Amino acid sequence: MGRIAYVNGRFVPHAGAAVHIEDRGYQLADGVYEVWAVFGGRLADCDGHFARLERSLAELRIPLPMGRRAMEVVLRETLRRNCVRDGLLYLQVTRGVAPRDHAFPTRPVSASVVVTAKSVDLAGDDRARTGVKVITVAENRWGRCDIKTIGLLPNVLAKQAAREAGASEAWFVDEMGLITEGASSNAWIVDSGGVLRTRDTQANILRGITRQSLLDLAKSLDLRVAEGPFSVEDAKMAREAFISGAGSVVLPVTRIDEAIVGDGQPGPIAKRLRGLYIESARRNAA
Ligand code: PDD
Repeated sequence: MGRIAYVNGRFVPHAGAAVHIEDRGYQLADGVYEVWAVFGGRLADCDGHFARLERSLAELRIPLPMGRRAMEVVLRETLRRNCVRDGLLYLQVTRGVAPRDHAFPTRPVSASVVVTAKSVDLAGDDRARTGVKVITVAENRWGRCDIKTIGLLPNVLAKQAAREAGASEAWFVDEMGLITEGASSNAWIVDSGGVLRTRDTQANILRGITRQSLLDLAKSLDLRVAEGPFSVEDAKMAREAFISGAGSVVLPVTRIDEAIVGDGQPGPIAKRLRGLYIESARRNAA
């Protein structure tokens, strides 16, 4: 059975799914997206992703294309039609189709909605056993990384630089030498004093939904946790490092640029948080 996509009210074969050439997402990156991890056919951190979607849309003044209930029906139907048990669900909402003009359309347009789903064995990712390499790149994104916009060119270029360096992720480093986050994930370390650190949400980062769930888990484990800045040097000297996101869940980082992190093996806290997150996501997915 071929893949099926949802495009503006219809389920269509993925291979031929298309939007209009004057969709403002296509021409101007005028839209937002969400990615849910899927476990057992259900959405991990379901409400958190919906809340962030609504916030991103509100920040861009794009009206909600449909109510939450209707949206959930579409998302679940996309999973069902693609027989996805474990995998990823992608939702994109743009301001819609209108003659090209940077300012908002003057006539009312309906937002465009695209949903796709694919099977991925998130829990069985081999990289969780080996650890991944990250590179550091200069932060060059706009000042509103809290909005999950589809305008991702700096992230695209950073990720490609990572790939060319044999790495899985790129960490953005701001002017102060402090790590903000990854191109498609949040950045974490267990520093040399044993404190779990991830950048605070006052900084220009995406408020990762997986990040928040991990913070809650870490607090329930009585780990010492600090949301705040850490430098590239702190990261290279850390006991452990890892990344988090719907696409990667939790992946241990064993190398940052040329530096080996800790003993070069996935660290115990990263492994524990990964296991607990997957367990709780399976249990609480909706
Ligand atoms: N990326 N930071 C950035 C820049 C991201 O793009 C993402 C997610 C995250 C992690 O957020 P969350 O835990 O809510 O997934 C942090 C998705 C998975 C993507 O672009 O595919």
